[in-house]
Amino acid sequence: MAAGKTNFECSECGYHTPKWLGCCPDCKQWNTLSEQHASVLDKQAKKQVHVDYASALQPLKNLPHQESERMITGILEWDRVTGGGIVPGSFTVLTGDPGIGKSTILLQICAKLAQKHLVIYFSSEESLHQVRLRCQRLEITNENIFFSDKSELEIILEISKTKLPAFIVIDSIQNIYSSQNFNLPGTITQLKEAAFYLMKLAKEYNIAIITTGHITKEGTIAGPKVLEHMVDAVLYLQKEDQWDTRILRAVKNRFGSINEIGFFKMQAHGLQEVQNINEHLLQDQQDAAGSALISILEGTRPLFLQLQALVVQAQFGVAQRVVTGIDHKQVVLIAAILEKYLHLRLSAQDIFFKVSGGIKIKDNTADAGIALTILSSYFQKSLPAKTIALAEISLTGLIAPISNIETHLKEAIKFGFEHIIVAKQQKLPPMQGKKVFALKNVYELLQFFPEE
Ligand code: TYD
Ligand code: MG
Repeated sequence: MAAGKTNFECSECGYHTPKWLGCCPDCKQWNTLSEQHASVLDKQAKKQVHVDYASALQPLKNLPHQESERMITGILEWDRVTGGGIVPGSFTVLTGDPGIGKSTILLQICAKLAQKHLVIYFSSEESLHQVRLRCQRLEITNENIFFSDKSELEIILEISKTKLPAFIVIDSIQNIYSSQNFNLPGTITQLKEAAFYLMKLAKEYNIAIITTGHITKEGTIAGPKVLEHMVDAVLYLQKEDQWDTRILRAVKNRFGSINEIGFFKMQAHGLQEVQNINEHLLQDQQDAAGSALISILEGTRPLFLQLQALVVQAQFGVAQRVVTGIDHKQVVLIAAILEKYLHLRLSAQDIFFKVSGGIKIKDNTADAGIALTILSSYFQKSLPAKTIALAEISLTGLIAPISNIETHLKEAIKFGFEHIIVAKQQKLPPMQGKKVFALKNVYELLQFFPEE
């Protein structure tokens, strides 16, 4: 911004405009635009700058080589999602609905890390008394965690620089304020400032920092989309109503994959990891007509999901397609392929389709499963028990192989699946005692629904 020019900034989303507006065009909030003055940097721009080129520019061979060991908590579901442990000097935001268990899991992480490292927990949201009660509930007795209820940024920085802990938690960043800044805590300028200085602290002093952040009704981190760009990793803790399970996932991770997910269950003594999630998913499985099981890969882990369909004669004009848990186009497409090649009048049928478990399916591994689910409901016949479908379907009605079949099969065999449906061209490892159906085209799917 050129010095002397006025500029208005939205306190919610950071939108900039040269003239004042009542409603922010970006986030649609009212009365959030306020005047900003040219920054100090702009004024300095005209000054002469001295650069020490010996240190300011470096060739590749001179770049520092830091092979820092990740901090492993031993909570496997957490370690996997973070990409193999917390990286020293990294700055992460953990976000999720209120009451989901953010403070609980972070306290549990602190207790694990404190076995080896010095840890400080800044609780700006809850009183130290509340934190103590929570520690009692979680049966934490570790002497190596220090607690503080300070929420002033400068004090947090000072404590951290003096004590040099390996890991700090800030619960939550929305309550942190800088005394140099006259805006209220939680406003975008305060958040940006807190994030900037905490990131600096993390990098300069090699302290791993995790802070919690609230999310809005729409599911984004409250206020700052900016915050997402300023940190190394963003983790979400979400609840799945169906099984009362918490799912931890990374939506950004500079130090690992964002495909891994971790499962937890909230219990009387904190969040317990659910490692055998497939056992959980298959627990209340019934082989009813209109359902089929598929396996999808979430990161490196195969998950078994049940697909359900209800195919009924359409009552009014255009048939409906009501789909949850998967892109509805995928279901529409498979229904169209079945209509075309099997001559079924699916366009005169309403199709209601859902995926159990609240996990969104993104890959095409589910194609054959979707087709079987629709057919199973259409013919009102259930598939043989312990059947799993692992194949894609092409637009020409051919059944096509999927990648990573070994990973899916290993898990399927472990869980006692007996009938395995794959593509004819799929290369398979030896499958003793299992009935493998190697199919060429969708027509062959009809063998599972014989006419009586
Ligand atoms: P909390 O970690 O405070 O959530 P957040 O920080 O995301 O707002 O979790 C609070 C909820 O978890 C609360 O409803 C009580 C419940 N809870 C348990 O069921 N068991 C426990 O051991 C703990 C500590 C909390
Ligand atoms: Mg909390």
